[in-house]
Amino acid sequence: MSVTQFTIRRPDDWHLHLRDGAMLRSVIGHTSANFARAIIMPNLVPPVVTADQAASYLEQIRAALPEGDDFEPLMTLYLTETTDPEDVAQSAASGLIKAVKLYPAGATTNSESGVRDIEKIYPVLERMSEIDLPLLVHGEVTDPEIDIFDREAVFIDRVLDPLRQRFPTLRIVMEHVTTKEGVNYVMTSPKGIAATLTTHHLIINRNAYLVGGIKPHYYCLPVAKRETHRLAVRAAATSGNPRFFLGTDSAPHFDGAKESACGCAGIYTSINTLNCLAHVFEDDGALDQFEAFASLSGPAFYGLLPNEQRLKFIKQSDPVEMPGKISVQNETITVFDPGFALLWRHELTKAGEI
Ligand code: DOR
Ligand code: ZN
Repeated sequence: MSVTQFTIRRPDDWHLHLRDGAMLRSVIGHTSANFARAIIMPNLVPPVVTADQAASYLEQIRAALPEGDDFEPLMTLYLTETTDPEDVAQSAASGLIKAVKLYPAGATTNSESGVRDIEKIYPVLERMSEIDLPLLVHGEVTDPEIDIFDREAVFIDRVLDPLRQRFPTLRIVMEHVTTKEGVNYVMTSPKGIAATLTTHHLIINRNAYLVGGIKPHYYCLPVAKRETHRLAVRAAATSGNPRFFLGTDSAPHFDGAKESACGCAGIYTSINTLNCLAHVFEDDGALDQFEAFASLSGPAFYGLLPNEQRLKFIKQSDPVEMPGKISVQNETITVFDPGFALLWRHELTKAGEI
């Protein structure tokens, strides 16, 4: 008999874009209803660069939380070439931030203030190694000579590997890994390096946004690659290997900004991510590894305890109703369409109920 019900510890999202203002207020409840914690990306306009900015962004997020939701935003700083190592160290010591994010300048949405010359950030990385604060990397080179499908693999050779030789004790998360090279690199590295994997990269390959017309709602960065890569990423997610954990990279944009001659990168999955993941893990006969991926391996890497609360999944015969779009004032955000019916619903269990 196939499984129709199971329970996992309440999950966390180790890579999330919440934005600010009206968009923040519209999307945050989709995360806070299900996830206990999330690593909050700092690529706002202007970016969250200093401790003061992180503190006020945290306030803004707390104020936007739906009444009664128990959710802890885990803040990050956006690394620039002028980031002050002391400011980083103090915000880590006070508990305000849990990590620092490296965007190569120009690699993705709002990354213009990111890093061009990696040597300029050596003093910060030195300090982060000393205090054991993780570095989160958007692992793509921006060299125009490099084909966009190779940017992750080239980043490993040109930037990540040399960085690890120079800072061997710095703990690093390679965010949203999309290639077999990325998976292999993380899998075969010595301790201290991990990867987040997104929901959408487990489900789509590059055909999703290129075949049958341009499909902007499947466009994100790093771009989804060919099928062999998707399979490698998916095998890593469902393997139970603690180096791979969930970071949805749910990245809302208004439809007008995506459905454009120069559409921006980002896929919105917060609202249906867990329904999609239950389907993926069931399909791969790996429901027993789902909890490791969504709820255990992330906290272990960050040195935190897993959540006490539980999330129960129930498989139903009729598809779960999911909106195709979210309204924000006069605009809309399109929700990720996985291309299959969602039969798994989920609910937080009451205290004491397993
Ligand atoms: O697709 C993406 N969207 N990739 C990123 O790295 C950034 C994100 C965003 O902020 O929209
Ligand atoms: Zn992201």
